Amino acid sequence: MSATIYRGTLANLRRLARVLREGGLVAVPTETVYGLAANALDAKACRRIFRAKRRPAHDPLIVHVADRRTLERIAETNPAVTKLARAFWPGPLTLVLPRRPAVPAVVTAGLPSVAVRMPAHPLLRRLLRLSGLPLAAPSANPFGYVSPTTAAHVQEGLGRRIQHILDGGPCRLGLESTIVDLRDPLRPVLLRPGVITVADLTRVLGVPVRPVAPGRSTPSSMLAPGMLDRHYSPRRPLVLHRHITATMVGRAGTTEAWLCFRRPSWAGLRKNVFWLSARGEPREAARRLFAQLRRLDRDGWRRLHAELAPPTGSGPAINDRLRRAAGQRA
Ligand code: TXA
Ligand code: MG
Repeated sequence: MSATIYRGTLANLRRLARVLREGGLVAVPTETVYGLAANALDAKACRRIFRAKRRPAHDPLIVHVADRRTLERIAETNPAVTKLARAFWPGPLTLVLPRRPAVPAVVTAGLPSVAVRMPAHPLLRRLLRLSGLPLAAPSANPFGYVSPTTAAHVQEGLGRRIQHILDGGPCRLGLESTIVDLRDPLRPVLLRPGVITVADLTRVLGVPVRPVAPGRSTPSSMLAPGMLDRHYSPRRPLVLHRHITATMVGRAGTTEAWLCFRRPSWAGLRKNVFWLSARGEPREAARRLFAQLRRLDRDGWRRLHAELAPPTGSGPAINDRLRRAAGQRA
């Protein structure tokens, strides 16, 4: 049995909004990655998300809202929230804030805080409005595997465990949202890098945004329980490199695949050399990263190699995902 994939017609969106109101699960497109959504105020519905993904109960979910009023119902806000919301919402930014009692403990894994974002994908925005609900949605992949950026990826990973997938096309950004802990507006902390960078955040907030302290990024951490060191992982072994050279590729032979950041001048007709962006554009590289990792994983290479991105723009976010995919510490 596989899930039904729906186009975003009004009739389909109405039908999926009803599924959500009745406590069901719907995989939804966002501008970052596909999410697996349920009514965030319904504990039973949210438990279904954990079961479908095989996600451990200590890893809290992100709640997606359509508007400011819904945000106020689930989280306590502060003036820094308003600044960031004005600059980046709707968009790929998640804020961790003190939670309100309306949010069931299963959503936050028992934490006193809740992660919230206002997504930009037009189909998801319509679905949020039609359902009238805040939607809890982690990425729509089996726990620990590479995040999905197309409806077909969701079908591959979860098709036998869910019934409904809304197809919104390939995700425009392709990396999960930037997560900032904004519980103390004077001391914002970056929990997960994304397309919105530390420099973007610092410029808008007017105070420095610190990276999460090393050692906090463990499963037992109460700050960011889901920031596991091994995550987004292909099944094949993955090795990271600062630079991939023709010599390295030649020496390893033809059974290993190489994912370069940009198209190398020596690529020629080599069938085991791939790249994220022909001209090395960070945005394009970010958009294609997960689809490329999935493809290489499927194609039966004995071992995968990937080249780290230069540390500008989306580079740190790409490298964060690559390091986790390779099982290295963040
Ligand atoms: O772009 C995204 O954020 C996507 C789309 C679907 O919106 N969602 C996503 O969800 O990436 P997920 O579950 O794969 O990652 C959520 C991360 C986890 O690492 C989790 O630990 C963290 O958010 N998180 C959630 N609630 C938190 C909280 N109260 N405090 C700290 N971290 C939290
Ligand atoms: Mg995820």
